[in-house]
Amino acid sequence: MQKKWWKESVVYQIYPRSFMDSNGDGIGDLNGITNKLDYLADLGIDVIWLSPVYQSPNDDNGYDISDYRAIMTEFGTMEDFDRMLGRAHELGIKIMMDLVVNHTSDEHEWFVESRKSVDNPYRDYYFWRKGKPDGSEPNNWGSCFSGSAWKYDEQTDMYFLHLFSTKQPDLNWDNPKVRDSVFDMMDWWCQKGIDGFRMDVISLISKQPGLPDGVPGENGFADSGSANGPHVHEYLKEMNRRVLSKYDLITVGEAAGVTVDEAKKYANADDSELNMVFQFEHVGGGENQHPHFGKWDEKKMPLPEWKANLTKWQTQLDGRAWNSLYLSNHDQPRCVSKFGNDSDKYRALSAKMLGTCLHMLQGTPYVYQGEELGMCNAYFDKIEDYRDIESLNAYRDLTENSGVSHEQMMQYLKDVSRDNARTPMQWDASGNAGFTTGTPWIKVNKNYKEVNAEKQVNDPDSVFSYYKQLIRLRHENEIIVYGDYELLEPDSDEVYIYTRHLGNEHLMIMCNFTDHDVDASEDTFERIPADAEKLIGNYKDDAKKTLRPYEAKVYKY
Ligand code: GLC
Ligand code: CA
Repeated sequence: MQKKWWKESVVYQIYPRSFMDSNGDGIGDLNGITNKLDYLADLGIDVIWLSPVYQSPNDDNGYDISDYRAIMTEFGTMEDFDRMLGRAHELGIKIMMDLVVNHTSDEHEWFVESRKSVDNPYRDYYFWRKGKPDGSEPNNWGSCFSGSAWKYDEQTDMYFLHLFSTKQPDLNWDNPKVRDSVFDMMDWWCQKGIDGFRMDVISLISKQPGLPDGVPGENGFADSGSANGPHVHEYLKEMNRRVLSKYDLITVGEAAGVTVDEAKKYANADDSELNMVFQFEHVGGGENQHPHFGKWDEKKMPLPEWKANLTKWQTQLDGRAWNSLYLSNHDQPRCVSKFGNDSDKYRALSAKMLGTCLHMLQGTPYVYQGEELGMCNAYFDKIEDYRDIESLNAYRDLTENSGVSHEQMMQYLKDVSRDNARTPMQWDASGNAGFTTGTPWIKVNKNYKEVNAEKQVNDPDSVFSYYKQLIRLRHENEIIVYGDYELLEPDSDEVYIYTRHLGNEHLMIMCNFTDHDVDASEDTFERIPADAEKLIGNYKDDAKKTLRPYEAKVYKY
């Protein structure tokens, strides 16, 4: 397999608004990030993925961009950005920018122009359509943030398309001028010296020709069918030819609805499009009882199904494309709360177990800020504590239109709201977890006195020190990066055991997903020679065959 630096890297995602506030206004900022770069260098990560820092009215916390070449006022200035980039590079850390180009903000000058008149030069930068004869929306597509995907605009008596909030109009990628403008802007950032792009909902950029109705769901709205649309690979190849191939970058496309076969195109080893994609199958739930409730009432996927899913991605992309590895990000609940056990007793153990399970797979791992401390879901009790537009829209929609009770909805939010990941980074035990001296824009998790960085950095038994070790192991052992993968005990609903192989070297990764002792099978155990080296584990002594609650261990032989 071809060696690449981005295959050997570990990426750390920063959600700037919640990372570190340097000036007491309660909002994280670029200088805050610069001040904490030494912490990240200590952790040992190679690349930072920076959630959007561009000028934005913040309808969706920066995923609605009004100027791609300016920094959000609340986050600082372009000089602050340059200083952060320079300091990161000094420390050997690369910076990957979030590229949000499926849509802009409605306050972006392209849209401001576009909405003015039907013959404005920017009109076709977006999707404008007449309503149906009865005045209703041009088609039945639904927005990912509830309601119709169309908004009526009086100015020209037409609707515009927004797959996300009404302030996030979709760009029309079929227009070559849109592609020119986007590629110019990307080139401008590359010239500045940034090291890569994480591409927001990039699988949605090619809409179905003619924008036909989709199959209506319970509420009359339908999926747009835009995922992996007809020209998406053509456009990405063009982007690759015109921008990406000119620089040595790391690229990852967020690809909702991507299948293994599609991923082989997006992340083809021939380097014609992107390095890798984020797929969602393993973070999605099992079945949901009400289709219209979407992610809110998904059941937890049983462990055998979850393992089978990860195994499919491991084996089918091997040698042909490249996997990204993640359990959390700014859109997901905290992984220790979702996949582990966030009780006082098992929080740290299960956080380490999940880290082991993920970081020993083939692919490039992504650590989301606070994951390395075992940060947990927010568990807000009041709807007023939530800030996320998706959560607030869903609360309104489901309680008003679908008969979901307030209590039920609050439980859904505690389990899956994106705000679970967006509470401030817990730096120390002082007020507001050391994140700000002012009032934080969103509440700090109640457990910050117990769970914080200051407590963990110098504690060899902490989740932080364990992640540091995981990252170091990946840098020191080629087998973790390039080895192939085999699943053992596929039917167990208690343990996840797999092996990796490279040349004559082998790794055995054993993870207990339960709160009780589980014995690995004879067959599994017989594979581990007596002189095998224990590379890492979250219990000190070695119980050999028995896996204790949330135990994880890796043998090398
Ligand atoms: C992506 C982002 C998410 C955002 C959405 C619209 O899914 O990760 O945070 O709300 O795209 O840009
Ligand atoms: Ca600030």
